[in-house]
Amino acid sequence: MQSTLDRKDHLHIAIIMDGNGRWAARRGLPRTFGHRAGVETVRRIVEAAPGLGISKLTLFAFSSDNWRRPAAEVAALMGLLQTYLQAELQRLIDGDTRLTVIGRRDRLPEGLAQAIARAEQATTRGARLRLRIALDYSARTAIAHAAICMALPISIDRFARLVTQATDDDDSPQEVDLLIRTGGEKRLSDFLLWECAYAELLFTDRMWPDFSADDLRAAVSEFRRRERRFGGLGDGSPQPQIANMTA
Ligand code: FPP
Repeated sequence: MQSTLDRKDHLHIAIIMDGNGRWAARRGLPRTFGHRAGVETVRRIVEAAPGLGISKLTLFAFSSDNWRRPAAEVAALMGLLQTYLQAELQRLIDGDTRLTVIGRRDRLPEGLAQAIARAEQATTRGARLRLRIALDYSARTAIAHAAICMALPISIDRFARLVTQATDDDDSPQEVDLLIRTGGEKRLSDFLLWECAYAELLFTDRMWPDFSADDLRAAVSEFRRRERRFGGLGDGSPQPQIANMTA
């Protein structure tokens, strides 16, 4: 019998990487140490993803609401992201990974914005894994932006088609198959609201710095066991995937 993990499903997995601060606090360390440990987890997960049938991975690194955090923590996070993009670039290229950043760019420090542009440019040929980092990201803003860019009034179908096109950044399906949130909270926090319409949700108490490749493997196995019906009866009737609406 074919192993469930052998199937080439080109999964899109989205992760809310929560729990860095608590991980650090439990060790008597400043919160930024938790973020630094979180970067190590990002490396591990990016490396493990293609071997688990994941072709698209979207990581929530900084929400538009995270600007409310103390300036020192925001600066530390921006610095970590810039360092990650610079230090990991060659590894991303070697791993045949294409990196893109979703979210607003106009409020990012200039050095980070430049590092993003460089990394995106240098990895355009990556075909094994599409890594998307959500930065200064708000799903509501993304949807509102798409709506503002459109000539309204239009039909709901046309709206759906246009939002899909406007929030997409490549030609592969953007619909999320599995959303994972670490850190024990059970909410979406304005992440990929449109794209997660039919996502399976998996919440784990594991803090992000402790999340391992084995945890990701277990999450994918759990996903494979779930029956997805997309509002139908699970009998092979057409699925209302937004990816299909672009046709
Ligand atoms: C949430 O944990 C985590 C963040 C707001 C930042 C996530 C960033 C990283 C993992 C590092 C950089 C990312 C990349 C892609 C290189 P929290 O601080 O809210 O934790 P808490 O809920 O325990 O306080």
